[in-house]
Amino acid sequence: MITDTKEAFDSTAAVEIVKQIEKKPNSVLGLATGHTPKGMYEVLVQMYQEKKIDFSQVIVLNLDEYFGADSDHPGTCKGYLTERLYQHVNLKKENIYYLNSQPASGEEECKRYDQLINQLGGIDFLILGIGKNGHLGFNEPGTSLESQTHIIDLTDRSRTDNAWSFGGKENVPTQGITMGIKTIMNAKKLMMMANGENKADIVEKAFNGPVTSDVPASVLQIHNNAVVILDKEAASKLHNDLY
Ligand code: PGA
Repeated sequence: MITDTKEAFDSTAAVEIVKQIEKKPNSVLGLATGHTPKGMYEVLVQMYQEKKIDFSQVIVLNLDEYFGADSDHPGTCKGYLTERLYQHVNLKKENIYYLNSQPASGEEECKRYDQLINQLGGIDFLILGIGKNGHLGFNEPGTSLESQTHIIDLTDRSRTDNAWSFGGKENVPTQGITMGIKTIMNAKKLMMMANGENKADIVEKAFNGPVTSDVPASVLQIHNNAVVILDKEAASKLHNDLY
């Protein structure tokens, strides 16, 4: 879906979530952070206030997290989602799951998350952004397409792009903990969002190029239930035959 305005981009994405929750009120949602979905979360909160969406049975999980970050830091994915969505809607506390940024054992935390996703019956609807290097979650280029939840060194690019969350690149943790590409591909439905001219090159590579671990987002081409929401700037380099 290619949208013309920022408002249309944000509301198109929010409406996809509303439709999912209407279809399955106890949906398991995987949620992304970053600049891209900020407006979508604002629309969701507004729709909740207008009683157009009910989160009372919804289960949420975050897609990724900064590994080693203080878990109360507002720049973490947990902090972002709490501030922009969780504290404003009627999600039940017990239905909010997180990747722990400071677990006693990283390896155990990854296993716990994969088991948790299985116990919940899998992810119904997973929201994704795309990094300028093609990453999905923190699955940086080169990540195995078979990966499950894992810890990964963040690229310089990703740390620079996320400097805003931590008040400077030097404060951005050097590692991330993230659902793996296989975890992502196992979700029943995916929704990837990208906006702005600075995403046009990577969107073109991801959807006109081959499916390759060098561009993790290219795997969306082979998911059987994926929607991609772009604004016209992010879509500007796509070949016309795609849409
Ligand atoms: P952004 O991040 O929305 O801040 O551009 C997207 C991503 O890294 O997945």
